[in-house]
Amino acid sequence: MASGWMTRLMSSGTEGTLALGLALGHELGIFDVIMASPEPMTSQEIAEKGKLKERYLREWLGCMVAGEVIQANRGNPERYYIAEDHKGALEGMGIAGRLFAAYAVRYDAVKACFRQDGPAGLSHSDYPDVFSVFHVMREASATDTIDNILNAVPGLAAKLGEGIDVVDFGCGTGVLVLEMAKRFPSSRFHGSDISSQGISIALKHLAQTQLTNATFSQDDLLSLPEHLHGKYDWALTYDVIHDLSEPLKALNEIALCLKPDGLYVMGDLHTPKDRCGIAGDDSSMGLYGLSMFLCLPASAGEGGALGPGAAWSKEEAHALIAQSRLELVQSASRQPYFAYHICKKRSTAQQ
Ligand SMILES: C[S@@+](CC[C@H](N)C(=O)[O-])C[C@H]1O[C@@H](n2cnc3c(N)ncnc32)[C@H](O)[C@@H]1O
Repeated sequence: MASGWMTRLMSSGTEGTLALGLALGHELGIFDVIMASPEPMTSQEIAEKGKLKERYLREWLGCMVAGEVIQANRGNPERYYIAEDHKGALEGMGIAGRLFAAYAVRYDAVKACFRQDGPAGLSHSDYPDVFSVFHVMREASATDTIDNILNAVPGLAAKLGEGIDVVDFGCGTGVLVLEMAKRFPSSRFHGSDISSQGISIALKHLAQTQLTNATFSQDDLLSLPEHLHGKYDWALTYDVIHDLSEPLKALNEIALCLKPDGLYVMGDLHTPKDRCGIAGDDSSMGLYGLSMFLCLPASAGEGGALGPGAAWSKEEAHALIAQSRLELVQSASRQPYFAYHICKKRSTAQQ
């Protein structure tokens, strides 16, 4: 009989196949077609509704039935449906599958990065698909994310309600900026990112709203324009600092943009510092995977050095802040793999 780890090794390929199948179901809208139907559907009906080739779809349906994602009623032809209690969970799983699909797209390029004579990294701009993955993931969790930030930072909700100036550096597609601008109409929100793809998606979404308190610009966090200096009551980076080739430089740039009593909150991913203690920890495995396929290569993508990566520890983040022009006030961490590091500007005498 196979031991536990052997069973796991043997199932890794089939589980990966399931993840890619989930991504296809999500991106091609197949789950939506099946869920929207009040009755179980034949493969021909699903193909017609989804404008897909029936023959390919039949292979996908077989994979999903075997994986117990979709149910089939016996008949000639068979009819397919999604169990009521699977529907909600499937939405989230499809998004996770898309992240896995983004790894698969990069597989050969990341393999080349491992080699000493290979490239240093990969630019996000060469793989723009990743921004739509970030966007879908962030949209699904934006309300919870903002609640978590407000719970982690004492007094922030009240200040946002009164009206302050806020910047989200590395805002990606701007989901958090738009959500906060909607929730706190008295405050002003600016989103900034180095990526033209990210900012153009953010601007497109902004144009679909009536918001007058949100703006976006394309900037490099390692060299921010002077007109942003001294401007903000609150600066946020969410899931960004570990992606940077020069994270210390970025923290010092952020310090320059704060008002004298401004706050900076670094929301970032972490794994435990003790590498020997993570054996059997799936979340750490997932974060090292994320780092290996996306974060580490992206940090060196524009010819820079390799950054900390998504699997850095809270202790490494604290050591970085200690070297910077910022001072750690408090770290709040309700989730084991994510922390909010709340910082203020060091006084000039301390610098
Ligand atoms: C993992 S994504 C997070 C995006 C966004 N904060 C969110 O949570 O959806 C990291 C972001 O950092 C941005 N980024 C990377 N290097 C940057 C730099 N030097 N200056 C500004 N943004 C940068 C990337 O373009 C990307 O949008």
